[in-house]
Amino acid sequence: MSGHELRRRGRICFPSVRTPSIRQHCRKIGFCHGVCRLFEYMMGRTRWIAVRVDFGRRLHDGDMQWLTIRSETQNSDVAETFTLSIFAFPRQSPIMSESAQFLFVCCQIGAEKTCKQEILNRYPGLKFAFSRSGFLTFKAVDTSIRPGSFQLVSTFARLWGWSLGKTNSSDTTELAKNVAAQIETLAGDKPFTMLHCWQRDLTMPGKNGFEPGISPVAETAGQILLEAIQPRLPGLRLNRPSKRGELTICVVLIESDEWWVGWHDSAMIAQSWPGGVPQFELPPKLASRAWLKVHEAVLWGQIPIEKGDVVAEIGSAPGGAAQYMLERGATVIAIDPAEMDPSVAEHPSLTHVRRRARDVPKRDLMNVRWLVVDVNMPPSYTLEVIRDYIETRKLDIRGVIATLKLPDWKLAAEVDQYRQQFVNMGFPVVRTRQLAFNRQELCVVALRKRFERRTLKSNKFKKPRRQEAVSSGDSLPENVDVPPQGA
Ligand SMILES: C[S@@+](CC[C@H](N)C(=O)[O-])C[C@H]1O[C@@H](n2cnc3c(N)ncnc32)[C@H](O)[C@@H]1O
Repeated sequence: MSGHELRRRGRICFPSVRTPSIRQHCRKIGFCHGVCRLFEYMMGRTRWIAVRVDFGRRLHDGDMQWLTIRSETQNSDVAETFTLSIFAFPRQSPIMSESAQFLFVCCQIGAEKTCKQEILNRYPGLKFAFSRSGFLTFKAVDTSIRPGSFQLVSTFARLWGWSLGKTNSSDTTELAKNVAAQIETLAGDKPFTMLHCWQRDLTMPGKNGFEPGISPVAETAGQILLEAIQPRLPGLRLNRPSKRGELTICVVLIESDEWWVGWHDSAMIAQSWPGGVPQFELPPKLASRAWLKVHEAVLWGQIPIEKGDVVAEIGSAPGGAAQYMLERGATVIAIDPAEMDPSVAEHPSLTHVRRRARDVPKRDLMNVRWLVVDVNMPPSYTLEVIRDYIETRKLDIRGVIATLKLPDWKLAAEVDQYRQQFVNMGFPVVRTRQLAFNRQELCVVALRKRFERRTLKSNKFKKPRRQEAVSSGDSLPENVDVPPQGA
């Protein structure tokens, strides 16, 4: 069996053995996402087809697997048909089985309905299964939705992963033991090296001082879990940001006596953060919560704001976002008729223009590279202001970070249209996400081009041609544009 470990035997029938149909079928059953190379060879009188399976991204060396398929000819008058038997299974996915797969999704408290609708509209192959405040699960009824070949793209999902179900007990040690047993079955010899354990949100971010993140309860539970699981997985670390591709066990504390267990492969930026919430070292005083929002937006959107860059912020008072930009070494033009926090207003690299956005003359906007917009107005107004700056004033900027307020959740249905408007303004890379630190609003990052980590320092920048279609979805993995629809 060419050295492959035999895990499963399946039979697949093809109408013909033409390469595209095999490729298509392999994709359908979740074996390959991107590139799929086929090689045919004979061994004795049997014909073998080797399929090189590429999971769409190179996570680690072990990702590339050879899947060997035997084909047997069954001649018929009409067409040649082949029965293919799968003899090997990619070792990359730790729990790839023929049994049903479930996804878990964490979102903001209050956004469950919106998040559920968005996912069901986008993925007909998913069926809603279960929800609690800030937590949803879906059953993958389409067999192509499988680990290794699927990435969920969603604006309102803060984090997603593969769900293994829940465990109930009023005793924390018992819960930890149950999870450890579940992980033991799941892990086999698979390289899980990270454990993320967090509590679902208790309320809307910013309400009564609540902010998402690792609560003391989750910290304690995580330590107990770590002790329970570590004998099996000695290298396991707790609640550190996972590296891209790192297999991560997720434990969500839904109630004190109900924990949900899942895992993901940290392919998306938000998956590297426990619970999809980035961890920051906070400055001694925040001028406003907007510091958290814009910091998360910059990390998630991979926005290369550099020292000396000029940032114009529309809706800048009292000044949390400006404070963050100043900390990064940017020069800030703060546009807001309202008063700025003195600690920010007095900074030598900040100019406060005390006017409404439309009353700011172009001469006050010299050399602006980035536009941050956070006005407490409906999205239609915010988009009009941005269009005015980009199209009428012809600001030659690299990108926009905009907060779109959703005074009514129904506006969430317009997200694709909002994205298209940015594309029409000449931003081919548009990402939307309800940030962990957003309230009833969402963040749009619109860029003139995709910035990659290794080119962050480059000053070369060309304005692209206007694009026709929305080029990119939501919280995407780095260097991956649009995952196949429904895949
Ligand atoms: C949510 S607050 C902004 C918070 C701010 N980004 C921070 O970092 O603290 C919204 C601000 O938008 C301002 N605003 C509303 N309409 C505006 C307009 N047309 N031009 C400029 N500012 C506006 C309001 O005065 C208010 O201070």
